[in-house]
Amino acid sequence: MKRILKTAAVVCITAVMALPAAGGTTGQDDTLGRKWLLSLGGKLYDNLWMVLNVPPPKGRNPQYPAGAAIPAPDTWRCVACHGWDYRGRDGHLKKLLNSPKFVSLRKIRGMPKKDIIERFTTGEHAFYGRILPPPMQEALAYFLSRGQHDVTKMMEATGKARGNPLIGKDIYEGTCISCHQADGKAYIEGEEGDRPALGWVARHRPEQALHKIRNGVPGADMLSLRFLTDEQIAGILAYLQTLDPKPATDN
Ligand code: HEC
Ligand code: HEC
Repeated sequence: MKRILKTAAVVCITAVMALPAAGGTTGQDDTLGRKWLLSLGGKLYDNLWMVLNVPPPKGRNPQYPAGAAIPAPDTWRCVACHGWDYRGRDGHLKKLLNSPKFVSLRKIRGMPKKDIIERFTTGEHAFYGRILPPPMQEALAYFLSRGQHDVTKMMEATGKARGNPLIGKDIYEGTCISCHQADGKAYIEGEEGDRPALGWVARHRPEQALHKIRNGVPGADMLSLRFLTDEQIAGILAYLQTLDPKPATDN
């Protein structure tokens, strides 16, 4: 993901720092609510460096397994070892490498935030405890406890969306089209190796598409669509899978 919009990252940081205790946002005085914090946590999970607006350490993460060819800076992202579906090697990461380092985070759903923070700020993860300011740790733990979705509700094991593309088309034409255009080929760079077309991403990286649709994209203008139901998001994925996967430049 190469697009860097510094202002978006700065807005995130200043907003979360202003919260007295990120996560406890049920009172009427709070300006930022649950969905916003969950999507911030989801963005930190995707790429904390982009959210914090600082570069990752140089070189590869020594904890990251050898044998999986991904760019060195990406080896420092939570998603690199835990997956776009949070299932580690029980999910899509197995296709990259069947490594015991790729651990599922599905079991920690519902766990108190402080216990989750403990797990990603100590031991081999101690480094993240030093890098992430406490409100960011809260948002990330909140996401892992309450914000994970179950990809199997929205797609089959083959990657095919379970939703109704007609539901997705209505949402797409009302919202997405203003940035991504009717063919889904605008405003897209994606991850290393992705082809810049939503039709391609939805077919070849469906778990990644689902995570980014629900949480937004760190450092970019992409929306967080957490207010939609799983059925509607599955419908969006189904519609995106009908779009032409060829990037505009190939035409
Ligand atoms: C290089 C691979 C790697 C990266 C990157 C990584 N983890 Fe992990 N994670 C692991 C491994 C391996 C374990 C299991 C062993 C352990 O706890 O250290 C684990 C365990 C965990 C656990 C405990 C799971 C349980 O069931 O108890 C949590 C929570 C967690 N990671 C969150 C994170 C978060 C949040 C990030 C990003 C800030 C992250 N991890 C980045 C490899 C990684
Ligand atoms: C305000 C502009 C905007 C709107 C509206 C918008 N997006 Fe995005 N979207 C972006 C940007 C910017 C990115 C990041 C592009 C990148 O990764 O380089 C993005 C990324 C994505 C990605 C991730 C692509 C990848 O390669 O991983 C998906 C999937 C996506 N958008 C789907 C949608 C859908 C579905 C809608 C409508 C419900 C939508 N977007 C609405 C701007 C927008």
